[in-house]
Order: sequence, then structure tokens, then C-alpha cells
Amino acid sequence: MIIVDKKTLVDCRDAGIVRLDISAPEIAKKAMPGQFVVLMVSEAGERIPLTVVDKDESKGIITLIFQEVGLTTRLLARLNVGDSLYALAGPLGHPTAVKNYGRVIIVGGGVGLAEILPVARAFKRAGNQITAVAGARTKELLILENELAQASDEFHIATDDGSYGRRGFTTDILKNLLSDNPKPIAYNLIYAVGPIPMMKKVAWISRDYGVKTVVSLNALMVDATGMCGCCRVTVSGKTKFSCVDGPEFDAHQIDWEELQKRNDIYLDKEKHICKQGEIK
Ligand code: FAD
Ligand code: FES
Ligand code: MG
Repeated sequence: MIIVDKKTLVDCRDAGIVRLDISAPEIAKKAMPGQFVVLMVSEAGERIPLTVVDKDESKGIITLIFQEVGLTTRLLARLNVGDSLYALAGPLGHPTAVKNYGRVIIVGGGVGLAEILPVARAFKRAGNQITAVAGARTKELLILENELAQASDEFHIATDDGSYGRRGFTTDILKNLLSDNPKPIAYNLIYAVGPIPMMKKVAWISRDYGVKTVVSLNALMVDATGMCGCCRVTVSGKTKFSCVDGPEFDAHQIDWEELQKRNDIYLDKEKHICKQGEIK
């Protein structure tokens, strides 16, 4: 649980993105693309889930990449090489179903780019033709550009403000790819990770084109072992627990409104805690 390397990928107030390499030999041995860990920064703190972005089994190291969005991620970003986490559990969740689907579009938004990277690499190794679509609010928030370019056969970038790549959203590019007239290419799978509105729109667009779509959900988690029920989500009308039944689900079967409402449940408390923590 010792931090062996630390890099600041985005140095931006209130939205910094940090990469940590952490010594965790048992997790490095077992972690597969699509899985995550749950960690505690200190004994008094909460548990938060983060995706295992990379691993080096021979060195016993896992890589996490996270955005500073609130108290715990800010406290985590304050740790330095040589510091230890208080607790770390994983790998958790089902691994991504990796096989040769054929042509795959992988869509990532914001820090979701870190979460799509291991999946893009695994799909490529399995022989898929990868079209990656990466999005960020602005150029300085775009991470892992080179890594994603290497993991894909075709690579598109969108920024909301047009500061880099195409102006607009990942979903604009997705729509173009799917409707590319006069000769639309047949895609076999879409895989998306990002903010809920982005994933919801990906699902909405891809449904029209009949392309199977998988998303990795960022549902609120507490124990991440299927006991507390905090991460519940409705999929095909049935209650599922994101931590043990997911985190990946069929995007066309998710009750997106419910997921958004549940993720906003503690917004007031999160703001309050952050103010008291006076982390800048
Ligand atoms: P807070 O101020 O407490 O919350 C800010 C927002 O973060 C909330 O509104 C909510 O949307 C989300 N959040 C807060 N607590 C939790 C929680 N316990 N579980 C899930 N979401 C929460 N983020 C990354 O930056 N990189 C990753 O690789 C990554 N992987 C994830 C994998 C999974 C399976 C899940 C469920 C989430 C992942 N997240 C990832 C989101 C990350 O867990 C939250 O950003 C983090 O918990 C925020 O904690 P905070 O105290 O700093 O922020
Ligand atoms: Fe408690 Fe999933 S986080 S059941
Ligand atoms: Mg928190």
C-alpha cells in the first residue's frame, strides 16, 4: 500500500488529475481490465472506488489515476512517494468481457479516459479494430492522449471549448461515426466511460443504430462487496449492485434518471465536508 511513484497529469485548481503507482503485489497479480479497488486514505476517512488503470505484475505495482473532485480525492492527492494508504482492497467487480468483437468504438470523457485505457489495450490485444473517441472540457484536462492513440487504430478528440481536436462532445463524433454516409461502417460494440450525461447520450445514440453498448458505471459505493446496497442501479427493470454485478452493464437497459438522482444524493454534504476540510 506504499506509494512508489506519483505524477501530476493535470495541474489545475479544483480539477487536478494525479497518477499514483502503488505497491500492491496481490492485487497486481489478479487485477483484470475493468476492475477496480476500494481505498481509504486515513482511518477516519471514507472508502472510495478507483479503477485499476495499469499494473506491473513483476514489480507488484498497480496504477491509479484520479481527479480531485472532493475531500477524499484531495487528501489522496496530498500523499507523496513513500506514504502509505490506510487500506486498499481489490480487485473488485467483474472484469470486462474481452474477446474479438470486430470493430469497437471506445468513448471516454474526462477522467473516464483513464478507465477506458486498460479496456482499449485489452480489446486491441484480442484483435479488435479500435476507434477511440476522447473528450475533455478543455485541452489542459485531456489526459493519456499518446497512450490512447497507441491503443487504437483510429483516434478522435473533442473538447467542449474547441481548444483541441474538434469543438463539441464525444457524442457528436460518435454520431458521425455511426452515420458516416454514404457508406456507414458496421460497428460491433461500443464501450463508454465518463460522466453520466455522456454515457446516457452514448446509449441514446447507439440504440438508434442497434449497436450493443457497454458502460462502466460510477455509482456511489460504500462497502463495494454487495452488502450495503448503496450502489444499486436498475438494469432491465431489476435491481443490480454495481460493485458485485457490475460495474459494467448494458447501456440500453439502465435507468439513467434513477442513477443520476442517486449519485446526487449527498451533494450538499460533500460540499459542506469539503468546506470544513479547507483543502485548497
Ligand atoms: P466527493 O465530494 O465525496 O464526491 C464528489 C462526487 O464523486 C460525488 O458527487 C459522486 O458523484 C462521486 N462519489 C463520491 N463518493 C463516491 C463513492 N463512495 N463511490 C463512487 N462515487 C463517489 N474516479 C477517478 O477519478 N478515477 C477512477 O479511476 C475512478 N474509478 C471509479 C470506478 C468505480 C467502479 C466507481 C464507482 C467510481 C470511480 N471513480 C473514479 C469515481 C471516484 O470514486 C469518485 O470521484 C470519488 O469517490 C470522489 O470522492 P471525493 O470524496 O473526493 O468526492
Ligand atoms: Fe455496497 Fe455495492 S457498494 S452493495
Ligand atoms: Mg467523499
